Amino acid sequence: MMIKHLHTLIKHAHTNMRLLITGICIVTGLTACRQPRIFTPGELWLDNNGTHINAHGGGMLYCNGKYYWYGEHKIEGSAGNVANVGFHCYSSKDLCRWTDEGIVLKVEPEGSHSDIEKGAIMERPKVIYNKKTNKYVMWFHLEPKGIGYSGARSGLAVADAPTGPFTYVKSLRPNAGYLPANYTDELKSVPVSAKQQYSGGGLPQHPDSLNIVMRDYENGQMARDMTLFVDDDNKAYHIYASEDNSTLHIALLSDDYLSHTGTYFRLFTGRFMEAPAMFRRNGKYYLIMSGCTGWAPNAGRSAVAESIFGTWKELENPFRGNDADLSFHSQSTYILPVEGKHTQFIYMGDRWMPGNAIDGRYIWLPMRFEGDQPVIEWKDRWEL
Ligand code: DGJ
Repeated sequence: MMIKHLHTLIKHAHTNMRLLITGICIVTGLTACRQPRIFTPGELWLDNNGTHINAHGGGMLYCNGKYYWYGEHKIEGSAGNVANVGFHCYSSKDLCRWTDEGIVLKVEPEGSHSDIEKGAIMERPKVIYNKKTNKYVMWFHLEPKGIGYSGARSGLAVADAPTGPFTYVKSLRPNAGYLPANYTDELKSVPVSAKQQYSGGGLPQHPDSLNIVMRDYENGQMARDMTLFVDDDNKAYHIYASEDNSTLHIALLSDDYLSHTGTYFRLFTGRFMEAPAMFRRNGKYYLIMSGCTGWAPNAGRSAVAESIFGTWKELENPFRGNDADLSFHSQSTYILPVEGKHTQFIYMGDRWMPGNAIDGRYIWLPMRFEGDQPVIEWKDRWEL
């Protein structure tokens, strides 16, 4: 036992020294997950090669006894805030020890003029499995190179295996030519001004005076931060920040998950939510989200509904205790239902490091409930 412990210490010391030498990250001497299934949020989290896991803004797929973690591969410095490499995948049987499965969707070379050219913004990949087509379907937030965040598009890629390789298919703005199912006649009649642009910050007094939905009716709705959710009946939904981030849309995908159906609802008007993560518990639907302050953390948001298209009721900030108003210096990316434990959910969040993107940390914490209210409390270490 002693020898094994000594061996682990030497291994970590060696790894940390290596990271220090290559200048990849600041060494704390700890890792974010120590066996057996002990998580230490915010610490380095080493994969099977002894390298800090590189899967930011991630999502999870459980498939044939394994978890697959997909996320943004970041590089050093602020250059890492755009896509230089692609999306990274890791696999694990215990959620603690992760095996590097490599880059599953690669950026295209500079000058290729591809949507996913190196230097584009590619964020928050989520992968779901389609039982009918036997395909692994990835949607992600895509901003073509050189136009900042004004593209607000959704990228699609498909694979035959969870570890890819994923083939890039297309990008689009969802639901072109369709209005939200809950768009009232009153809203439809609000005039559209070509100049309307809001990207967050101060809330417009009455966002519905802008009619961004109508502005984007022909070319499709804006879609930035996003997640996917597959319901018990295998219907899949794309949930994304829309209308210059002022609302969230929940959109039904086609049966093969490869397109939008035109059925969608707009929610939380004027609340500027980002980072949506959806889960289902005891028949109810839940959303965890953030506010809209760039890479800087803010207070979390939560909401519950009896059915997926609502009515959604906004609840409280799910974070409790010191720094709850900063979501413990994190931003939501996924809520993970632990396989085989129907009542156990893990909050997965990112602690972004925009000055040295590769050093972003993962904040995973268990979630409990007070009635409908999800509650997340800080723990330096916890065991599954
Ligand atoms: C907040 C989003 O949640 C992130 O995914 C990223 O888009 C940053 N904004 C960029 O500022």
